[in-house]
Amino acid sequence: MTTHMPPAAGVMGQFSLAGKRALVTGASRGLGRTIALALAEAGADLALVARSAEPLAAVAGEIEALGRQAIAIRADLTVTLERRQAVEAAYAALGRVDVLVCNAGISPIWKRSAKVTEEEWDVIMDTNVKAAFFLCTDVGGRMCDQGGGAIITLASVAAVVGTPRMAAYGMSKAAIAQMTRTLALEWAPQHVRVNAIAPGYIETDMTSGLLNHPYWGAAIRQATPMGRAGQPQEIAGIAVYLASPASSFATGQLFIVDGGAVAG
Ligand SMILES: NC(=O)c1ccc[n+]([C@@H]2O[C@H](COP(=O)([O-])OP(=O)(O)OC[C@H]3O[C@@H](n4cnc5c(N)ncnc54)[C@H](OP(=O)(O)O)[C@@H]3O)[C@@H](O)[C@H]2O)c1
Repeated sequence: MTTHMPPAAGVMGQFSLAGKRALVTGASRGLGRTIALALAEAGADLALVARSAEPLAAVAGEIEALGRQAIAIRADLTVTLERRQAVEAAYAALGRVDVLVCNAGISPIWKRSAKVTEEEWDVIMDTNVKAAFFLCTDVGGRMCDQGGGAIITLASVAAVVGTPRMAAYGMSKAAIAQMTRTLALEWAPQHVRVNAIAPGYIETDMTSGLLNHPYWGAAIRQATPMGRAGQPQEIAGIAVYLASPASSFATGQLFIVDGGAVAG
């Protein structure tokens, strides 16, 4: 079954990624690592990208222990040549890419907008927007040529609601949401589906400083109806859903997973 065909009967079978090949960026830790392991568990072979070779190799080892193929590709996605070479290396190893998880991202600052420097702005936009756009267009274009595919981007609740002290990050994730809709419309006829996961606060390296802060950590939990931050594993199911034929009629959407934070 291809990712774009209506699912056959039997709901659990619709979530299978057997025979699929997936490229996951930012796979060395956090959400990317968890999503990569989940796709492998569902049957996919993986190409993993990040800047840190050692943790990436460790994740590749975890995937191989599940009986799937995994290649670790060290690259800084903000460097055009490295990004292009990473995509080439993924295609060389896997032959094709059926699923792209465009997950690599950064949130390095927590400060009032008036204090944000141009250098901070540039590094956030280069990573979260520019690298993501050109990665998606590179791989998505090839998916159109091959007859279909599924792209998952990582937006954020900060794309949906204003988040004081995270202006540049929130704007970068709003850009991802808009990119997701636009690419979905452009590529729907070629059976390439593009959807975004928009998590609330999930416990990873990215959020540990905030969530462990006595004041901000408590404030975030208080603003979340479920009263807690999420765990990376709580994003795994939606990622497998969006990568698989189970979501064959879903495209151009933002899937919010946030413990109820933006429901009110
Ligand atoms: N955690 C949350 O609460 C949350 C909420 C909403 C959205 N998100 C989004 O989810 C995604 C993953 O977040 P996370 O919490 O898992 O973050 P994380 O733990 O900090 O991991 C980020 C990943 O991106 C990679 N990366 C960063 N810059 C890169 C670059 N220039 N080139 C290649 N790889 C790069 C990192 O690896 P290296 O450092 O080794 O390169 C790492 O694997 C991000 O897009 C984030 O914005 C997270």
